[in-house]
Amino acid sequence: MRLVNAGHILKKARKEGYGIGQFNINNLEWTRAILEVAQEKQSPVILGVSEGAAKYMTGFKTVVGMVENMIEALDITVPVAIHLDHGSYEGAKNAIAAGFSSVMFDGSHYDIKENLQKTTEIVDYAHMYGISVEAEVGSIGGEEDGVTGTGEVADPEECRQIAALGVDFLAAGIGNIHGPYPEDWKGLDMGVLKEVGETTDRIPLVLHGGTGIPDDQVSEAVSYGVSKINVNTEKQLVFTQAIRDYIEAGKDKESKGFDPRKILKPGVEAIKDVVREKMDLFGSTNKA
Ligand code: 13P
Repeated sequence: MRLVNAGHILKKARKEGYGIGQFNINNLEWTRAILEVAQEKQSPVILGVSEGAAKYMTGFKTVVGMVENMIEALDITVPVAIHLDHGSYEGAKNAIAAGFSSVMFDGSHYDIKENLQKTTEIVDYAHMYGISVEAEVGSIGGEEDGVTGTGEVADPEECRQIAALGVDFLAAGIGNIHGPYPEDWKGLDMGVLKEVGETTDRIPLVLHGGTGIPDDQVSEAVSYGVSKINVNTEKQLVFTQAIRDYIEAGKDKESKGFDPRKILKPGVEAIKDVVREKMDLFGSTNKA
């Protein structure tokens, strides 16, 4: 199957009341793990790629080539989108030119006037190529890929203005942050989420910072219009921990301790478990 426009699968999810996971990728192993679980679960899936991760993988074109060829080689038939995560203005244009099927333009650090103007330009450009666009209002807290957000609660009126530009889905800050949540975190601001849901004409909403949000809050957020939930840190944590445990238990010595494929395997299995669990929680299982 060809890469799909993420807006199309998210629109369906919004209408039918479930969420689709955006699982960020960093390398071949993660990509394969996520695609295999999506197929096993018969779930649509969005592969998130930050600009830093793309650079690590030697560029947007390499990522597109890897994913497209993997879809073919693994006989993946569920809908798959490749989505630029927290893209800059230039990054979004470059990702589109390289064949990404969806991009996020994160203009949340500009003032609202500039965010509106730049988002308009990216929407026009992306839609010319049939590519979906995610915009952001109210920066998501925490640090991701060197980009630090202070964590804001979005203004529903600004969300209305951005949504009206024709963006396909919208990330609104509602107290969510990237990475683990602090002990004294107050939880998601469901009041603002509800208000944003009501002012944005049923556009699918996006919940960043999917690691560490209690399951009941995720489900409640989905009921108020969140259709895409981003998960990255949790996969990083389980991947490294599983490999550390494997080596510390001396298992790498049992058979050819220097085989990188064997050493990475426990990490890959741990990621697969997280993706399975999230697809069930978000409700995307059997929605392909
Ligand atoms: P976490 O790293 O907290 O899971 O958030 C991922 C994310 O929002 C990517 O944009």
